Amino acid sequence: MINVTVNNLPVEIEAGATVLDAIQLAGFNVPTLCHHPKLKPYGACRLCLVEVEGARKLQPSCVVPAADGMKIHTDTDKTRAARKFVLSMLFSERNHFCMYCQSTDGDCDLQQSAYREGMNHWPITPAYKPFYVDTSHPDFILDNNRCILCRRCIRTCGELVGNHTLSMEERGSATILIADHGLQLSESTCISCGNCVQICPTGALFDRRSAYQGRETDLVHTPSVCMDCSVGCHRVVKTRDNRLVRIDGDYDANFVQGMLCEKGRYTPVANKMERVQQPLIRRNGELIPVSWEEALSTFATQLKAHAGEEISTCIHGRQPAETLSAFRDFFKTEFEAGQVALCGQDESAAIALELAKEFGPFESKLEALDEADAAVVLGADLIKDYQVAGFMLQRKLSEEFVLIQMTKKPNKLGKNISRKLIMVGDNYADLLDVVAGSKAYESDSADARYGRMALEALAAAQHPVIVIGKWFARKENMDQLRRTIEFARSINAKVLIMKGNTNSFAGAIYGLDLRANYKAAPVAFYALGDGKACPKSLEAFKNSGYKIVQSSYFNEITADADLILPCKIWDEEEGHYLTTDGRLELNRQAITVHEQQRSVREVLMNLSEKSGLTLKADWQTELTDKISSIVLA
Ligand code: SF4
Ligand code: SF4
Ligand code: SF4
Ligand code: FES
Repeated sequence: MINVTVNNLPVEIEAGATVLDAIQLAGFNVPTLCHHPKLKPYGACRLCLVEVEGARKLQPSCVVPAADGMKIHTDTDKTRAARKFVLSMLFSERNHFCMYCQSTDGDCDLQQSAYREGMNHWPITPAYKPFYVDTSHPDFILDNNRCILCRRCIRTCGELVGNHTLSMEERGSATILIADHGLQLSESTCISCGNCVQICPTGALFDRRSAYQGRETDLVHTPSVCMDCSVGCHRVVKTRDNRLVRIDGDYDANFVQGMLCEKGRYTPVANKMERVQQPLIRRNGELIPVSWEEALSTFATQLKAHAGEEISTCIHGRQPAETLSAFRDFFKTEFEAGQVALCGQDESAAIALELAKEFGPFESKLEALDEADAAVVLGADLIKDYQVAGFMLQRKLSEEFVLIQMTKKPNKLGKNISRKLIMVGDNYADLLDVVAGSKAYESDSADARYGRMALEALAAAQHPVIVIGKWFARKENMDQLRRTIEFARSINAKVLIMKGNTNSFAGAIYGLDLRANYKAAPVAFYALGDGKACPKSLEAFKNSGYKIVQSSYFNEITADADLILPCKIWDEEEGHYLTTDGRLELNRQAITVHEQQRSVREVLMNLSEKSGLTLKADWQTELTDKISSIVLA
């Protein structure tokens, strides 16, 4: 620890902290623009200049390390004059006619800094020329006229996302932000995660859909969790007048630095699918609106008329744990239905439970990816299916990272890494033999040579991690999976099994069938909610006798249904989600809907009342007991 004073106030701070850290710890504030706590210190804008006794010049506090005995002053004639000068220059260089900007009045760090310094006019007459505006991207716009060249966006895309799409072109006052080597954003390598947009301190990068829909202070912020995959990123759902406006990553939650992917940030806001507004029954080929009472009575009559085996049910993994538990209790325990499945045909969560019976807790938290210096990815497409987990590996490109992938199909992970070994194939037994060593020394085949390289790289790694995905985590690969875990233990590697869509892990713990042999049945119920049916379950449903679906939207499955029940969507219902690494997260309700919309859980409760049943209230104990037997803290 070291001791410094800030504006004569003594403060003790860890060695290695910056002057800015010390200032903030002491409870003072200096304005910053290029600095962001999630990014490495950069020191470009010079707005954070402070006086340090003994130093000849003002010091940029965000990059200068604090030193023992330092005496720092943040609010002197010199610092105030310097800040005004920096701001005057920034306002004069480009078009900052704030009243025409969507970030004006509270959403722009530049404007706020100017207000803070008491600037109410331009001390230097602006003499800018027009700059390029890129409107090609479907989700956001880049207006170089508002850019202050702070490079937060470039650093986010490189340091945090690992995509390295953005850079600067030209020099001096002509500098502009570009994608790749000057491509339009829509044609570039941008993967539309929007993390650069969220971090931009001005109106230079802005969201198309939420622009002019209200300032941050006009919006209701609901901290929540993304359930578009099982990574479980923390996000803030922003609404106005009970309407979804924008979704941002939650910088305060400290999970994967507040990053989101396109699915978590933009897809829910861009959704234009037609909602089911009320219960509908098919009569003479026509869908007729009916009351909930009539719809539920029809549902209950169908269940009563059929023995358990004749009932086939399927639920989507986007449903909360509370609902999955009630679904299991209602259909499996009470009705002994022939099929109680979780749709998706991804059995990785069930396989992880199986392996935990033999090995005890053998998995690690996702943070293992952040610490890794070598990774073996077996049968998972992290970039497509678990994007933010993919960012955690991708962003290490500049370090001497070693990546070994065995994939069913080629994918984009590690597209820029030089030290990598990609094996594409279906036979994980052979590929694994090569990496785990048993075949690596036997022959001089290309695979064996690769295997030897991989072994050397893994042996040299300090923090190797093995990631297993759905193509490998299957029943027919149990022997290889066992050997993989033994191999991981022999090299001290951490292990992660990516567990299917959203709440699959909870579904597996509740004993839902994750790899159902879907068959048509006399009566079928599909609790789809706001998810998408998988092809196999869809086909079985279509061939069933009486078809009941609870769906938020009209889609392929409602097209054939005899009874359609409306359903609340993700932001209209509160519920828990078990992430791939065993964190139990709460998705909070952000939107209130009228009573025609009911959740799957509410429908199960309604049906239970009609059938004289009482479902278990405790959905949690079973989950928490199991998690500790599988995931290491
Ligand atoms: S949206 Fe994501 S990938 Fe695209 S430029 Fe921004 S940070 Fe990079
Ligand atoms: S676009 Fe925004 S974040 Fe990027 S350099 Fe310009 S002002 Fe900074
Ligand atoms: S990685 Fe998964 S949980 Fe995270 S934002 Fe993307 S879809 Fe949502
Ligand atoms: S915030 Fe310190 S130099 Fe930009």
